[in-house]
Amino acid sequence: MLNPLLAALVVWQTAQAPARKPDVIYVPTPQDVVDAMLDLAGVKPGDVVYDLGCGDGRFVISAAKRGARGVGVDIDPDRIEEATMNARRAGVTSRVKFITADLFETDIHEATVVTLFLLPDLNVKLRPRLLAELRPGARVVSHLFDMGGWKPDRTITASDGPVYLWTIPGKVAHVQSRTPDRAGLPRRPGGARPSSFRPARAAGAIAGIMLAR
Ligand SMILES: C[S@@+](CC[C@H](N)C(=O)[O-])C[C@H]1O[C@@H](n2cnc3c(N)ncnc32)[C@H](O)[C@@H]1O
Repeated sequence: MLNPLLAALVVWQTAQAPARKPDVIYVPTPQDVVDAMLDLAGVKPGDVVYDLGCGDGRFVISAAKRGARGVGVDIDPDRIEEATMNARRAGVTSRVKFITADLFETDIHEATVVTLFLLPDLNVKLRPRLLAELRPGARVVSHLFDMGGWKPDRTITASDGPVYLWTIPGKVAHVQSRTPDRAGLPRRPGGARPSSFRPARAAGAIAGIMLAR
């Protein structure tokens, strides 16, 4: 028969285990880089900052200290517990929320700023959702890793490497082919352009997407 203490430990460990294996292990962003990224994104009161894969909650807590609201999402319940405790210590619980969830299944439409420290292929996988769900003008900042074919608006060098900024452009007005290119972006339209659309270059473009003015 199983020792009752051992049984309790097994139950506790099962309850704390992530729903599935995290896509990337936990490595915190140094605090000076967090601050540089929030500066780069221009985080201010009124912003809603989502950190997808939030770890100990440092992005969201730092954003809340600037008067923004923050939501941290992590698949690992231990990280969420730690983030919740850190928010309590920092006195910002009223402005933050931490959710145990898969970032690829989380509704992000209310975010005005998204912070990322994932991996290059995870950024590229997330890219279509960022473009489709975030409102025009929302900012995305990523620590160390870019977004493949989506060129950043700005790149700065922080203390441990590059940090990238993208701004979500105007709504996608028309895409002639829905077939994604190898990088996951819609193909550049090849045929004649409808008169109501201008070349992507004139309206601002993300690797071949035609955008409304
Ligand atoms: C490199 S750490 C970054 C932590 C924090 N954003 C920072 O920069 O300090 C990545 C985090 O993503 C979480 N993670 C990995 N896969 C995830 C997924 N599919 N959904 C939500 N969180 C995930 C990990 O548990 C880990 O805490």
